[in-house]
Amino acid sequence: MLVPKTAGISEASTSLSLGERRLEALDHAAGLVARAWAEFDQARETEVTPSAQLLDELRAPLPEHGDDVIKGLNDASAVLDASLAQARPRYFAYIGSSGLEVGALADLLAHSYDINLALEAGAASLLEAQAITWLGDFLGYPALTGSFTSGGTVSNLTALAAARERALPRSRANGLSGVRCAVYCSQEAHYSIKRAAEVLGIGRDWVRAIAIDAERRMDPIALAERIDADMREGITPIAVIATAGTTLTGAVDPLNELADVCARSGVWLHVDGAYGLPAAGASATSDLFAGLARADSVTVDCHKWMFVPKACSAVLVRDPRTLSNVFAHDEAYVPHAGEALNAVDITLEYSRPMRALKLWLAFKVHGAAAFRAAIARNCEQARDLYERAGALDGIAVLASGPQLSIVPLRRTVPGCPDENAHNAELCTRLQSDGRVYVSPATIDGEVWLRPCFTNFRTTSDDVHLLLGLIESEGADCSHHG
Ligand SMILES: Cc1ncc(COP(=O)(O)O)c(C=O)c1O
Repeated sequence: MLVPKTAGISEASTSLSLGERRLEALDHAAGLVARAWAEFDQARETEVTPSAQLLDELRAPLPEHGDDVIKGLNDASAVLDASLAQARPRYFAYIGSSGLEVGALADLLAHSYDINLALEAGAASLLEAQAITWLGDFLGYPALTGSFTSGGTVSNLTALAAARERALPRSRANGLSGVRCAVYCSQEAHYSIKRAAEVLGIGRDWVRAIAIDAERRMDPIALAERIDADMREGITPIAVIATAGTTLTGAVDPLNELADVCARSGVWLHVDGAYGLPAAGASATSDLFAGLARADSVTVDCHKWMFVPKACSAVLVRDPRTLSNVFAHDEAYVPHAGEALNAVDITLEYSRPMRALKLWLAFKVHGAAAFRAAIARNCEQARDLYERAGALDGIAVLASGPQLSIVPLRRTVPGCPDENAHNAELCTRLQSDGRVYVSPATIDGEVWLRPCFTNFRTTSDDVHLLLGLIESEGADCSHHG
């Protein structure tokens, strides 16, 4: 490859500092951010698609020399404007997030200082510890330690690595060497559990998918029977993973009963609350999470229903040694101050940004009560949609109402030869209409629309518009028979 010569180019033209233009760039960026925030307050009537000029820009080759910073910022803003932003109030697909304003500001600050939370980092390390304590207090989980990670997938992997080491001491050193072991979760657990089993050498086929009840929650009796049967066969149970808010329908597994099963068999209980756990902090829903404090570890994604920008998940544990037992290393270039652990000794990652700052600042600026209220509002919106949709002819809802903020619904059309195709088409039509954004999901072999409310900007009017559009767009769909 031909490497271009830089000799003869002045220092100023190759500098990586914005120099005298710093404030101008910051002011301009602030204007773009303020415009975006104002735009997110209300839903826009259609999605913006990339212009021909933008598409050209996005195919341009690597620039060898820089361009004007204001132009660069405008180009970046144009790309973001033509993208699907979860921060918009009518983004109801998958499990969205909101890009909380103070969270975005915290990210700007954190990234500017670019502190590495792998090692002792002064006040930043204390702040991370405080944010973990505050999060545990909010949820009602007595976390003695924990860390912020890049997502629920990594938080679940982190917790299961600790569980594996407790069940099979020294497996981190020896490998599993043919030891048969298993993890247990509901049929509707998130697939990050399978991925963790793959990565940790447990094996995906050793994830026991336990039957669910009529409310789609893991059946504790079926769980106990499966653990007992495995133990009789010499298979070591590594962990039970309870889901506190399944991705498909928002079902919360019965944590107390599952904790009883785990206590009886000495098995690690992990709660995957990546989506739903923040609802443990809201009084109307907190009872659903009774028993949470008995879990050995929990996952919660603050970038979902705590509204802060991605990526900000947390894994919390009751016994700090369980994490250091599996992650601590003594390396020549990572000194330890006496017995003290480095942050990296309890995480999978090494270089780690200061993810805690956005949650910490959000709690400081808004207070926990504002979060409890916003979560409760999303749950009320789900209940409102469920009741309104259930009262209409031609729209089916699940027999059991929403436990949290997901409301699967589908159109039923008498005489329609293929209702799945009808609902899939309806979902595509809604997405291309652009006023709302929903995703489809398959439940018991049927195609459903699966709106999920996790945005503090969503209003009741947004929810009612969704229902209206489902009716009007549905009436225009083909596959009517
Ligand atoms: C229950 C549950 N667990 C884990 C995850 C994975 O989280 P992340 O996307 O942050 O890796 C999700 C994502 O939706 C989830 O719903």
